Amino acid sequence: MDVWDRMNNTKMKDLTIVILAAGEGKRMRSRQPKVLHPLCGRPLLAYGLRTARALADRIVVVVGPTADGVRAVAGEGVTVVEQRERLGTGHAVLQARPAGGEGTILVLPGDTPLLSGETLERLVRHHRSTGAVATVLTAVVDRPQGYGRILRQSGRVKRIVEDRDATDDQKKIVEINTSVYCLEAKRLWKALAEVKPDNDQGEYYLTDVIGILARAGGRIEAVAAPDPVEALGINDRKQLAALAAIQRRRILDRLMEAGVTILDPASTYIEDAVTIGPDSVVYPQVVLEGATAIGSECVVASGCHVTASRLGDRVRLKPYCVLTDSVVEDGAVLGPFCHLRPKSHVGAGAEIGNFIELKKARVGRKTKAHHVGYLGDAVIGDHVNIGAGTIFVNYDGAAKHQTVVGDGAFVGSNSSLVAPLTVGEGAYIAAGSVITKDVPADALVLERSPLVVKEGWAARRRATRAAKPKE
Ligand code: UD1
Ligand code: CA
Repeated sequence: MDVWDRMNNTKMKDLTIVILAAGEGKRMRSRQPKVLHPLCGRPLLAYGLRTARALADRIVVVVGPTADGVRAVAGEGVTVVEQRERLGTGHAVLQARPAGGEGTILVLPGDTPLLSGETLERLVRHHRSTGAVATVLTAVVDRPQGYGRILRQSGRVKRIVEDRDATDDQKKIVEINTSVYCLEAKRLWKALAEVKPDNDQGEYYLTDVIGILARAGGRIEAVAAPDPVEALGINDRKQLAALAAIQRRRILDRLMEAGVTILDPASTYIEDAVTIGPDSVVYPQVVLEGATAIGSECVVASGCHVTASRLGDRVRLKPYCVLTDSVVEDGAVLGPFCHLRPKSHVGAGAEIGNFIELKKARVGRKTKAHHVGYLGDAVIGDHVNIGAGTIFVNYDGAAKHQTVVGDGAFVGSNSSLVAPLTVGEGAYIAAGSVITKDVPADALVLERSPLVVKEGWAARRRATRAAKPKE
């Protein structure tokens, strides 16, 4: 049982998770809201949501105005509230009040994707067992610049000061605020009402709630993240790249632990949603993206770029294959240098070789197309042989048309099949033909001008040329 299943079985009671996702992300310098930027193929927000879903039933996501994309990622079973004006993290949490209700509130920032479910669970348990009004998840980091610092007095948390508001001495503190907090709802709403925007940014800071609660005599607890990496937030694209590198390595480790050989992890890019079966081998310089699922005992050679595709077992991708939104059945062999464009389907044991392009093409079992060609808008049966240089002429300048090739047919090299067209089962197309009419089953078709042979012509020509004096 993996950690997600385990936690699905032990959702925590009376817990509301509030995810803050309304920030503009100015430091990203992007038109896109920060939480939609992908990290190893998933939007940042999706990471927090996944962890939250495993932990609690009540999830509230605070989104900014014009955040349709964010709403879409939030998906079903999640309450979305809007923060119309971005007045700060404290103001953002306040928007969750009508939906947040009573009990314990766990606040998560939407830009801290590496937080683990275990750490959050530990935070909530600690919070409840100590009876604290607030518990902050902290981390001790080498470079605390940019983060809020934890100010303690006689060991107890007294307040949090933001980097830009901190004194030089406070800036030396290496214990930082992760922006993850466990709070008792009633006390939180009360304290939020007291927060004032008296800081460098003129915003309502959630961090100030900690000082307010402490001054009122409440017990503030802190739990340190076991691995400071979990606390890393993404504010700019350099941090996005740094965290992506960590997440990428985690994905590769997960796959290797599950029995996949990755010859050179340093040069392999595999996204979060990709699955690979045991005893498959991934060569250096491979990119596997989106919801790609690869079976067991497959080989993915160097230079392959696979997006949102499904490969069966024992599939072999020779170097430099590009596959998008396609399906490849068991034992098929592709490449080197073949291109499966969307909605292609290669049957079991089929061989699609050098410089073959498929588009919306269904290729049957054990069918072979080994050398150079374009097979677009096609339904090709089983045991078909497609000769070198075959072109399915699918476009007449206005519309696309389909070509159907029956089982066991033979298409000779350098043929053009002008669609719409049906080639019957077992038919034989002679090399170099341009086929414009349907071919009956078991027929031979050939379209060829008569061959002219002039005996001795070349020798005579050479002789006349040699006789001419050179200028
Ligand atoms: C925040 C904390 C800081 C902490 C750091 C950890 C505050 C004031 N500071 O700083 O102490 O060390 O996180 O990463 O809380 N958001 C909204 N509405 C807003 C503003 C922000 O929803 O009006 C959301 C953002 O989308 C983001 C999260 O809140 O997901 C944190 O905001 P951000 O601006 O990134 O805060 P930091 O400056 O990183
Ligand atoms: Ca942040």
